[in-house]
Amino acid sequence: MITFEAVRKQFPDGTVAVDGLDLELPTGRITVFVGPSGCGKTTSLRMINRMIEPTGGTVAIDGKDVRAQDPATLRRGIGYVIQHAGLFPHKTVLDNVLTVPKLVGRGRERNRALELLERVGLPAAFADRYPAQLSGGQQQRVGVARALAADPPVMLMDEPFSAVDPIVRAQLQEEFLRLQAELGKTIAIVTHDIDEAVVLGDRIAVFRQGGHLAQVGTPEELLTKPADEFVRNFVGRDRGYRGLSFQRSDDLLLHPFPAGRSLDGEGTFRDGDSLRVVVDLTLTSPTGTAVKVDADGRPLGFVHHRDVVDLLEQRR
Ligand SMILES: Nc1ncnc2c1ncn2[C@@H]1O[C@H](COP(=O)(O)OP(=O)(O)OP(=O)(O)O)[C@@H](O)[C@H]1O
Ligand SMILES: [Mg+2]
Repeated sequence: MITFEAVRKQFPDGTVAVDGLDLELPTGRITVFVGPSGCGKTTSLRMINRMIEPTGGTVAIDGKDVRAQDPATLRRGIGYVIQHAGLFPHKTVLDNVLTVPKLVGRGRERNRALELLERVGLPAAFADRYPAQLSGGQQQRVGVARALAADPPVMLMDEPFSAVDPIVRAQLQEEFLRLQAELGKTIAIVTHDIDEAVVLGDRIAVFRQGGHLAQVGTPEELLTKPADEFVRNFVGRDRGYRGLSFQRSDDLLLHPFPAGRSLDGEGTFRDGDSLRVVVDLTLTSPTGTAVKVDADGRPLGFVHHRDVVDLLEQRR
């Protein structure tokens, strides 16, 4: 677990970037730092690996104050990924990934580097290219592979996916979650995109100007119970819709599906799907309906958009 206790950072020019920060980042989970520009997210992240030293309070990993640890040793256990990947332009993809094992002194681990590249979705053919010969999304993948190279238990990621277009970004997020499901690292991710925070975060810490925490909670808690006006505004006007992802569809009353009618062109959902899935289907269906099917894809019944709205009214 990573803990911030009463952490403060005042820069020499007097700017207070972080003030009185108390926060816990659970082991093996993704914690997302989100908030408007300049509110102290990057500063907080960098105090974990001592790229920035706090001027008050304590940052600890598993109960050990990071200031008691030699910075070089500390950083071997902490992968770091930044926006635009921060690759060395004069080194090949493979050598970029190998930078870290060299740092760790394990010698050339070419096979391991190739395996990592493969894991983040880059075939061996990319190994000898230079960063300028890659797309933004591919560069970002190299950045993630490099951070994973020393197999650190902790990963810090500062806006890791923000330099790519929305489609590539969604892809990278999905791949990243799949990887994390296998690896179970303790991860801190900075973003200013609440959608990204909701997708990636097990926990979300919402920062406000001056390095104060506005709220910490699960995505569901933030969307359904914003602590105050600031969080409410930050999670945005769509929060009602986003919040549907956390509402079950199981108790929707089904209308009988006419025997003999074809399922062709009907949007279908299953037990366990969220109300957001059902709403998306009914809103894009010409008839405003969606069909519930069983595990074998057989129709159980259908709902109309109105039924979902009624259910939401009842739950209010
Ligand atoms: N070296 C520095 N000296 C003085 N002030 C600094 C320094 N680094 C950052 N700051 C200030 O500290 C505050 C927090 O900066 P920080 O980079 O942590 O913000 P952020 O939340 O990551 O913002 P963004 O979303 O724009 O990246 C800002 O007001 C910034 O100008
Ligand atoms: Mg920042």
